[in-house]
Amino acid sequence: MNVLITGSGGRECAIAWKLKQSTKVDKIYIIPGNAGTALFGENLNVSASDFDNIKNVVIQNNIDMIIAGSEDMLVNGLHDYFLNDDLLKGVRFVGPCRNGAILEGSKDYAKEFMTRHSVPTAKYKSFTKENIEEGYLFLESLKPPYVLKADGLAAGKGVVICNDPDQAKKELGDMLYRGKFGKASDKVVVEEYLKGIELSVFVATDGNTYKILPEAKDYKRVGEGDKGLNTGGMGAISPVGFADKIFMKKVEDKIIIPTIEGLKKDGIKYQGFLFIGLMNVNGEPYVIEYNVRLGDPETEVVIPRIKSDIFELFDGIATGTLSEKEIEIDQRYATTVMLVSGGYPGNFEKGKVITGLDQVNDSILFHAGTRFEVGNYYNNGGRVIAITSMGSDMNEALKISYKNAELINFDNKYFRRDIGFDLR
Ligand code: AMP
Ligand code: GLY
Repeated sequence: MNVLITGSGGRECAIAWKLKQSTKVDKIYIIPGNAGTALFGENLNVSASDFDNIKNVVIQNNIDMIIAGSEDMLVNGLHDYFLNDDLLKGVRFVGPCRNGAILEGSKDYAKEFMTRHSVPTAKYKSFTKENIEEGYLFLESLKPPYVLKADGLAAGKGVVICNDPDQAKKELGDMLYRGKFGKASDKVVVEEYLKGIELSVFVATDGNTYKILPEAKDYKRVGEGDKGLNTGGMGAISPVGFADKIFMKKVEDKIIIPTIEGLKKDGIKYQGFLFIGLMNVNGEPYVIEYNVRLGDPETEVVIPRIKSDIFELFDGIATGTLSEKEIEIDQRYATTVMLVSGGYPGNFEKGKVITGLDQVNDSILFHAGTRFEVGNYYNNGGRVIAITSMGSDMNEALKISYKNAELINFDNKYFRRDIGFDLR
């Protein structure tokens, strides 16, 4: 089987790394990939938003399966494009059609879906320019902090949380009237603040049955102690102590089953991953958001804990045979620490030589923003490399990741030294 992965982050590198170990996979292609994915397959310089070019790649390289790494091309209908094309409709596709991807593509739709199917989530209302006055009144009815979310995709930046009611009203105006997040904020979801600890839960579904993958916790803020700006993710841990059997049973009964059944009731055949971002509020799970793909950097700790052949999992999703597949989980802890370019998530410099990669032998390196040229690796993005390690407990695994974080160097390297701090 030849497999095509779309994307260029640590997540796609982890998928390529694991697929490379499958006896069922002949060749792996990644569009556009990074210097790390090139170690496991062939990178092709094609934009994931250029559907016609993806079609050419699939036909020229006899691709049997496509795995969508990120959400944008799913929200834009890449799976639908495949189904509507006689030459492509036989290709196995991991990732939902547009009618499923809208769970991530529109926060208002996701909230309506949760309400319709009794999935616990924060109380909310949605507003447009037309009813902004009602928005101000709704904000007045809430206690701080105030949570405002741009309805559409905003590259992970569309959420504003503030404490001051006047600031919250100004933010609502900035989003609806002054296009703070472009078209994505033509509609805004205002919701109740949930106080608790977050968890990322990953569900694989073929539209009929589902399997729950290992859970993870990611660390989104750039600064230690969860301070500072939001990033794509500075590190991750799996498993997560508070996600014990009792809590995960609640997650399954109150969130996963109603979601999967809800998709079916709504006539949506969802074949892909559903990533449920949730908050544990005094032992009760509430959905913060749905994502229609795997998480990054969570994938860099979830995939190394899957012992079985991951091709089988993807194949089960894409061919509706998930119930026949077994997934075996490694009980050890996995941790990942992200090395980032100094200045990220603000401005940072690219093109710094990365040294020390060859000194690492007890962690797995998943490249994110890297480039290879005449014998050297260079940083080429904000998040540069995820250093994943396994251990019998979290601290043992972290110790290995941190040892290697010191061995790898580039100018202005930065990483958080407190990943897992709240799970100790
Ligand atoms: P999202 O883009 O929906 O993941 O939101 C970004 C971050 O904002 C989440 O990871 C949470 O940390 C936080 N957040 C979103 N919604 C809420 C909420 N209702 N209550 C508290 N925190 C929230
Ligand atoms: N780690 C959060 C995300 O992938 O959206």
